[in-house]
Amino acid sequence: MTIYEELVLQRPTVPAGLLSKEEKDRLIERGMLGIYRWYFDQSQTKRNWNPYRSFDWASMNKNHSPELLTILERFFAVEQYVPDYTSKLTQLTRKSMGRSHFQVLWGAEEAKHSELWYNSLLFSTQRSTKWMGEYLRNLRQQEWKLPWDDALHMSCYVVIQERATQLNYINLMKIALGQSDKPALANDSDPVLAAASKVIANDEAAHYGFFLSIASLYLYYYPAQLLTALDEVIKHFAMPALDMFEDPNWGEILYKTGIYGAREYTKDVLQVAIKQLSVKSRKALELGIKNSRLVPDPDGNICDAAIFESFDYREVGATVKNTIDRITRYAKEVGIHDLDPVTFTPSGIIPTA
Ligand SMILES: [Fe+2]
Ligand SMILES: [Fe+2]
Repeated sequence: MTIYEELVLQRPTVPAGLLSKEEKDRLIERGMLGIYRWYFDQSQTKRNWNPYRSFDWASMNKNHSPELLTILERFFAVEQYVPDYTSKLTQLTRKSMGRSHFQVLWGAEEAKHSELWYNSLLFSTQRSTKWMGEYLRNLRQQEWKLPWDDALHMSCYVVIQERATQLNYINLMKIALGQSDKPALANDSDPVLAAASKVIANDEAAHYGFFLSIASLYLYYYPAQLLTALDEVIKHFAMPALDMFEDPNWGEILYKTGIYGAREYTKDVLQVAIKQLSVKSRKALELGIKNSRLVPDPDGNICDAAIFESFDYREVGATVKNTIDRITRYAKEVGIHDLDPVTFTPSGIIPTA
């Protein structure tokens, strides 16, 4: 039996789209809590590392190019705003235990990233502690602000941001592995930096995966609202803290070193994220929203055919079911499933497109 056939069998006997807002919110919260617990377990058992002991820092290359050192500086700068990110995102999501506790755990991982990039600069021996102290003091004069003030938009924002960050670190790893074709980076091969970039990119992949699961949950129970938020976030997206460096050359350095540019954003970030949310294309998303009458009923349900033309709703259902199944396997393994199960509940929404 296919997953979709299973979904059809499990569909409740209520008419389409009649799950109440209260019930949908309860299902989303229960799902988030389950995903958070699964994530917590994975982070402790499979991804635990230490920014001081996990790398042979003393063997780090001492002759990195100015371009590469600038990249390390900026990566450190972005990660060291972690108190701003964590406090604001935790406050924004505080009514949801799954989401807000995740933000605390996420913050601890981002703090490790900040230490990792700090160590890379320190052991490069090309930045003094005095210089680093001054750099940090200047950065902390500014405060990062939420790009959106609601959880739905922020759920879309972090999907794109974490994927972009993962890509940035993977591309740095390629430079450190000596795979860059840029002459300026010819002497930037560095096994220590390659190992560090790989570990940190793996964390970012896990962050991306978590937020993708959360966005999929919203997309399944509140499709029109999530897609509208996604469309708006894409229209205004910028990486965090970019405007806080006061460095007009930063975008240029990222582009010239092959770390990140418009092409990478479109092809390796946006298209990947959109596809994993089962959205057909950027254009289909825009069209679907434009052609829909996006006026939800009091329970947040919209039964408008046009919106379902822009994405594969059945695939979203299968994604959410797969996520719940994964959580269930983990919950059984650690023995909490019988006491506190998470079950998949079909939305009752029948796509008419
Ligand atoms: Fe990070
Ligand atoms: Fe991250």
